[in-house]
Amino acid sequence: MALLGASSAAFAQAGVSSRALDSTAPPTTRAALAKAEPVLAKHAMVVSAQHLASEVGVQILKDGGNAIDAAVAVGYALAVVHPCCGNIGGGGFMMVHLADGKNLFLDFREKAPGKASPTMFQDDNGTVIKPRSTQTYQAVGIPGTVMGLEAARVKYGTMSRKQLMQPAIDLARKGYELQQGDINILHTRSDDFAKHPNVAKIFLNNGKPYQVGDTLKQPQLAKTLSLIEKDGPKAFYRGPIAHQLVMASIEHGGLLSMQDFADYSVQWDEPVSCKYRDYTIVSTPPPSSGGVTVCETLQILDPYPLEKWGYGSVQSVHTIAEAERRAFADRNTYLGDPAFVKNPIATLLSADHAEALRSTIEDDKATPSSEIKGNLATDEGQHTTHFSIVDAKGNAVSVTFTINYLFGIGQIAGDTGFFLNNEMDDFTSKPGVPNSFGLVQGKANQIEPGKRPLSSMSPTLVMRDGKLWMVTGSPGGSTIITTVLQSFLNVAAFGMNMQQSVNAPRMHMQWLPDVIMTEPGLLTPAVKAQLEDMGHHFHERSSWGADEAILINPQTGMLEGANDRRRPSGLAAGY
Ligand code: DON
Repeated sequence: MALLGASSAAFAQAGVSSRALDSTAPPTTRAALAKAEPVLAKHAMVVSAQHLASEVGVQILKDGGNAIDAAVAVGYALAVVHPCCGNIGGGGFMMVHLADGKNLFLDFREKAPGKASPTMFQDDNGTVIKPRSTQTYQAVGIPGTVMGLEAARVKYGTMSRKQLMQPAIDLARKGYELQQGDINILHTRSDDFAKHPNVAKIFLNNGKPYQVGDTLKQPQLAKTLSLIEKDGPKAFYRGPIAHQLVMASIEHGGLLSMQDFADYSVQWDEPVSCKYRDYTIVSTPPPSSGGVTVCETLQILDPYPLEKWGYGSVQSVHTIAEAERRAFADRNTYLGDPAFVKNPIATLLSADHAEALRSTIEDDKATPSSEIKGNLATDEGQHTTHFSIVDAKGNAVSVTFTINYLFGIGQIAGDTGFFLNNEMDDFTSKPGVPNSFGLVQGKANQIEPGKRPLSSMSPTLVMRDGKLWMVTGSPGGSTIITTVLQSFLNVAAFGMNMQQSVNAPRMHMQWLPDVIMTEPGLLTPAVKAQLEDMGHHFHERSSWGADEAILINPQTGMLEGANDRRRPSGLAAGY
């Protein structure tokens, strides 16, 4: 383990944990982490991937709303100011922590249309035709966001739909000034925007990509949001909005019907929870794979002395990768929508299963993924956005929602003004054939009418000594699971503060492909060489994920908000 340099020691004295910096990570990474401090607030905090949405949330909290009110307002605001990812054309998951200690899970994931079938993305020879599940109206699942946000508001909110939606309607109608972070995201799909006149009219500036300082106005979306504000989910699922979506779907060879919208429902359910040392992780159950996979990985890791090995060390990287390899093999084999398959959650999270998997991990050698299978003894069976909110009364909300790719299928139905998801690609198009996130999945996640595709979204709460300690989550497809894991472990095991944890270069291993993905700055050449000698394969990618997290510091009682450096338009704000 490398010793602290003199400058790091100075930062440590300034309040940054020395354990966080006592790692083998490259010196430049340690120096950057030494400077990373979270935003502090005494009462309440909102962290989201777009600053205007965070400000909307803080204002709702200051006006007396609770965390659920703020989550509804931030959700709608993100649909306007973060149109790649925030949405009303997609779905997601909400974790709620109530001040009385209750933890709840709300599932507003999209459902497959009634005409969907297991082989719909294959041609007559059984070959998967990729663009069908990502770029066409056949890729669209029935959106859940509008019903989800309303279900949360009605059950636990205190404010009217008008109070919570007006900020989003105003931002859409009056427009907002684009910053570099917004422009970076918009420019990723300028060519696609140009293909559809109704999209180009909104998301291109007279046919040209928007630039920093331009104002983006979305009058069509303002109108759609006003209809929802006035008539509630009825407008979306049984009224003019569903009608426009179905007409566009028919015109473009999609499967959506009015009946699909009328049949759509959201679901409150029990979260998944597990212990790691003196922490309790409370996260999303299926149709999310997130909570189960984070928990299974932590159950395997529990006895290993990660805190002694340190962040970025050979032993930590090796052991975390081996645990992830095994947990993802189970994820991809067993998990699916609980309305359709029996998820063996108790078995996957049992001490016996963790012990059995641990016994196959060698200290000094990588196990090839080809040798790992999801093999329970009994068969029981780049885009998204996350925001975290804690209010002054002790309620908290953790939401991840998505239209899958940045801007989903890149198409908008008529003049509804919002992008449609391509969530159908999260299903298994064919067992053994990877989806867009390289996930090689099985039958449990095959396409069926009315089924929800298995998700990796993992909005998560962590308790310590019975009290709320962390609220976290991220986009990033399959990498969401390991980003959430690192968000937690970087603080719990490696002693980082919340901002260091969010900023620290990441790693990701998902069983197949048999590679550890790394961000620059995680490994020194020497550590990497040693891990390669042990049989690990590496693929460096510039960056992924956008962890928007809050830590409630038990020592000071202060809220530590951390916007991910990878989302420069995001903001942690509180009061
Ligand atoms: O639900 C899922 O797992 C994916 N649809 C999430 C997609 C995502 O995070 C894309 N962002 N980079």
